[in-house]
Order: sequence, then C-alpha cells, then structure tokens
Amino acid sequence: MNPIRLKNGKNLIIRRPNPDDAPALIAYLSQLGSESGNLTFGSEGIPFTVEQERDYITKSNLLKTSVMYIGLVDDKIVASTNLSAPDRERIKHTSSFGISVLKAYWHIGIATALIEQIIAFAKETEVVKIIHLAVRVDNIHAIHLYESHGFKCIGIYPKQLFVDGQYYDTILMNLELF
Ligand SMILES: CC(C)(COP(=O)(O)OP(=O)(O)OC[C@H]1O[C@@H](n2cnc3c(N)ncnc32)[C@H](O)[C@@H]1OP(=O)(O)O)[C@@H](O)C(=O)NCCC(=O)NCCS
Repeated sequence: MNPIRLKNGKNLIIRRPNPDDAPALIAYLSQLGSESGNLTFGSEGIPFTVEQERDYITKSNLLKTSVMYIGLVDDKIVASTNLSAPDRERIKHTSSFGISVLKAYWHIGIATALIEQIIAFAKETEVVKIIHLAVRVDNIHAIHLYESHGFKCIGIYPKQLFVDGQYYDTILMNLELF
C-alpha cells in the first residue's frame, strides 16, 4: 500500500502484519493497554506468547472476510485495526471492529486512514454488510470519528466496561453497507 501523508508530515504505512511482526505487535498491545482506559484490556496486554501471536497472524491472514492491519510510522507499529466476521451463514454479513493508536500519535489522521481501509476491505468482500463496534460513552474523539464515517448508534450496553474499579456504559454503533 502507498504511504499516507499524516498531519505531522510523517508517512503512514498500512499493511497486514506478517508472523515476524509478532514480538512488536505484543509490545505494541502492552503499551497501548497501559495508555488507554477505553479498551477491553490494560497494561497486561493480550495474553499471547510470541508463538501464539505468530500463529494468530498466520491464520488471520488466510481469512477472507476478517482482517487485521497495522499502521507503521518510521518502521514502528503505532496503530492497529481489525475486522472480524463470523463464518456462519446466517450472520456472516455481520462483523466486529476495533481500532487503536498509540497516544503519541493521536490527532494526526491515523485512525481516519485505518477506518477508511477497513471500510474499503469490508466493501470488497461483498459479504460483510454490517460493521459493529462498542465505544465507551465518554470516548468523545472515537465517537466523533465513527459518526463522521457513517456509524449510527443502535443502543447502549449498560456497564459493559469495568476499568479501575468503575463500570462504564458503552455505545453500540453499526455502519451498514447494504
Ligand atoms: C480514538 C482513536 C482511535 C483516534 O485516533 P486518532 O488517530 O487520534 O484519530 P484521527 O487523528 O484520525 O482523528 C479522529 C478525530 O479525533 C479528533 N481530533 C483530531 N485532531 C484533534 C486535535 N488536535 N485535538 C482534539 N481532537 C482532535 C477529531 O474528532 C477527529 O475527527 P476530525 O478529523 O473530523 O476532526 C485514538 O484516540 C485511540 O487509539 N484511543 C485509544 C484507544 C481507543 O479509544 N480506541 C477506540 C475504542 S472504541
């Protein structure tokens, strides 16, 4: 994929991870978890060994209607996004979506570039018709990002997140591609 010029003048490369990215991806997720209370994990990151992460990446890259992308600036993983669609006939048109950017790289257009990539991927599948996400009610920037790409609120999930001893509602949002 072509580099994308960011608001800080740096180039963003978006690509699928390969198994050799596993250690850097684990380190990325651990840093991310320690920086944000908006995710489903904290500084413990994702409980994968390097081998498990390699295996996960290899298997993910074989799927036709699910995808993971990483965003790199100066060869460092600074963002990631994933779309996951189930295999079952009756719900294969649905998918769940997640996105994250390291704090030092916020507000320069990285999430915008990644979300556009995910939506383009979903459209290309011609199978995925609904992109679903859950966002903490007070995550204003993320909600604005989603709304500006056409996501609509479909409901509230009371107390879905438990962070630092406190429960938070999430807003459930869908983007329909019919
Ligand atoms: C939410 C998140 C993904 C946004 O990433 P980002 O790369 O900073 O987003 P972008 O730079 O593409 O900007 C998206 C929106 O952020 C806001 N924003 C951008 N620049 C800003 C600035 N200088 N000051 C304040 N807000 C700004 C705007 O609302 C912008 O929308 P706009 O382009 O219409 O102005 C990022 O903050 C993040 O990873 N947070 C932690 C994890 C998380 O919350 N993930 C989502 C879970 S549902």
